[in-house]
Amino acid sequence: MSEDPPASPAVTYGSYLQVDALLDLQQPRSQGPEHDEILFIVIHQVYELWFKQMLHELDRAVALLTQNDASRAQHTLKRILTILKVMVAQLDILETMTPLEFLSFRSRLEAASGFQSDQFRQIEFVLGAKARGAVERFGAGTRAREALERRWAEPTIWDAFLAYLSRNGYEVPAAQLNRDRTAAIEPSPEVQRILIEIYRRDPVHSELCERLVDLDEGIQEWRYRHVKMVQRTIGMKRGTGGSSGARYLETTLGRPAFPDLWEIRSSL
Ligand code: HEM
Repeated sequence: MSEDPPASPAVTYGSYLQVDALLDLQQPRSQGPEHDEILFIVIHQVYELWFKQMLHELDRAVALLTQNDASRAQHTLKRILTILKVMVAQLDILETMTPLEFLSFRSRLEAASGFQSDQFRQIEFVLGAKARGAVERFGAGTRAREALERRWAEPTIWDAFLAYLSRNGYEVPAAQLNRDRTAAIEPSPEVQRILIEIYRRDPVHSELCERLVDLDEGIQEWRYRHVKMVQRTIGMKRGTGGSSGARYLETTLGRPAFPDLWEIRSSL
């Protein structure tokens, strides 16, 4: 007679979410440790989890556009924007840390910096801001390198949007549909003409455009708030990642992901 296999333990809150492993991931480096280092670690880890979720949703939005399901793509974009709002709001928590509180453990970060967040670069890549240096920063065979290599070659959400428009009655020029997907998204007068037409006569697709503008603006808002937080925490000091700090970060502001959607506003 064969014996029943041993019953697997019942799923609990702790086992399902791996709470023990999760709570073991915050490892301060300062002696003591300094009180605020835990906050600094938790916030960054929470951001990485939101980045992961955003990428999951961005992939879904691209897939839905490719399947011609604009309505669900729009729903997914709405979720992404809601996550972005939370991500921006979370900076308020870190801004309760004073410059001296940060200095109490800053040296222990050595050369570590958010500049090295591969998931942030992946988000930039999906939005069309691709830089080869961001891929090559990570060693061959690492998770980060493989993810960035894959996204380097993949179409951006803008490419998925243009292909969607082309399948749905808009004459998007072939040069745009077949553009080099690793290159920066440049403004295109032909695409702008199509977008103006959409805004004037196609309320369904103009809503989709507005969600892409929300996404673009949301990322720009995060960048702006991050720079302000950096200025109030370390002033104009150099970053731990080796850049000029706030001065470098200011150069990343005011660069829209989807320039055509901004250009057309003056012509509407
Ligand atoms: C006290 C808090 C913080 C300070 C002082 C700070 C400082 C800086 C500085 C100076 C840079 C420029 C690169 C360098 O030289 O290091 C940078 C880049 C960056 N930081 Fe922060 N940061 C803080 C919090 C955060 C948080 C909570 C996140 C969330 C993940 C974050 C994500 C990033 C990202 C993604 C970049 C790269 C931005 C780009 O290259 O466009 N930072 N940070």
